[in-house]
Amino acid sequence: MSLWNEKRRILITCARGTPGILAGEIQAQRLPVRSSLETAVETEGTLADTLRLNLSLRTAQRVLYLFDAFPAAKAQDLYQRLVMLPWEKVIAADGFLSVTSSVDTAAVNDSRFANVKTKDAIVDRIREKQGRRPDSGPGRHGAVVHLHWEQDRCEVWLDTSGEPLSRRGYRKIPLEAPMQETLAAAVILATGWDGKAPLVSPMCGSGTLAIEGALIASRQAPGILRQNFGFMHLLGFDLSAFEKQREELKKAALPKTAGRIIATDIRPEAVEAARQNARTAEVEHLIEFQTCDFRESTVPEGEGIVILNPEYGERMGDAGKLGDIYKGIGDFFKNRCLGYRGYIFTGNLELAKQVGLRTKRRIPFYNGPIECRLLEYELYRGSRKGGTEG
Ligand SMILES: C[S@@+](CC[C@H](N)C(=O)[O-])C[C@H]1O[C@@H](n2cnc3c(N)ncnc32)[C@H](O)[C@@H]1O
Repeated sequence: MSLWNEKRRILITCARGTPGILAGEIQAQRLPVRSSLETAVETEGTLADTLRLNLSLRTAQRVLYLFDAFPAAKAQDLYQRLVMLPWEKVIAADGFLSVTSSVDTAAVNDSRFANVKTKDAIVDRIREKQGRRPDSGPGRHGAVVHLHWEQDRCEVWLDTSGEPLSRRGYRKIPLEAPMQETLAAAVILATGWDGKAPLVSPMCGSGTLAIEGALIASRQAPGILRQNFGFMHLLGFDLSAFEKQREELKKAALPKTAGRIIATDIRPEAVEAARQNARTAEVEHLIEFQTCDFRESTVPEGEGIVILNPEYGERMGDAGKLGDIYKGIGDFFKNRCLGYRGYIFTGNLELAKQVGLRTKRRIPFYNGPIECRLLEYELYRGSRKGGTEG
């Protein structure tokens, strides 16, 4: 049986704080959730299934398909086991290989050593079988193998994504402090927004929240813009089947969304960047752009969600100025957004206290190493008094 239709463990990595959301996405793809870890969810499927997962999952970083697992207590064990595996059946002798690893074992004290040993074993095996070896290097544009070595157990995975899936390919103009695409998608999915009500994204910066919102609302698969994935460099990859799948996903997307999506920023260059990124993502027609202070953003009548990702002042001396901004967001919610659910994504809970409204939920996220919260405010019509603030 070829790997392309052999069921094996598939490990899908994601940002800390998001495995619950990713697990929901995997189930929606009608695959089982075998276990949930801190930064990954394990499922089971064929190598062919990874094409759809890479194209469709919004909060996944890497989709790894198990190649082999074995005990290895010493550095030599690694090479000896790896050189026995049939690499010539998955990686072309004229291809390009890179190896990544996560290593936590007393057997080696430098993960670079494990990387080099893994790469050596793979290319030695292919040279022995085929008479030539693939080129190799750090770039993840070809076949990617991931080694996970914990204590005396090794798992060797084919990284079917290659470059991380957060690189959707639409953010040509990132500006400063952009939110990672997969994180923005996780934030929107955490709100439970279904695309039928309006989504307002003041302080949109490079537009990531609005663009991910538009992709979600129009049911557009987030990976269809990408031209390169790790699986394309594995032997037996069927380009025409892949193109067909991509076309089907494209066709399943809705031409319009029911809820209006509004993205605004005070800086004209941010709005221009957001517009261009949306154009690249093929969702420009789904988003209304405005250049204005966040307090002036259009908020359609009725119910909807409004999400802001204000700066949260990693630099010294920003806190005072930002305090006024956070207070202003509270006033904006109270004065302009009644009937909505308001959200603030921030890494600074001290500043968040300045909002002065009671939070309904505080959902933990991580922006890289920074612990963040998505704060939810229920903005009821009519005044609300009392309750804890911040
Ligand atoms: C942290 S960035 C948002 C990044 C965005 N989530 C992204 O993915 O690119 C904050 C944005 O708030 C904008 N901003 C700051 N003060 C503002 C104000 N008073 N009204 C509207 N936008 C403002 C800045 O121009 C900046 O683009």
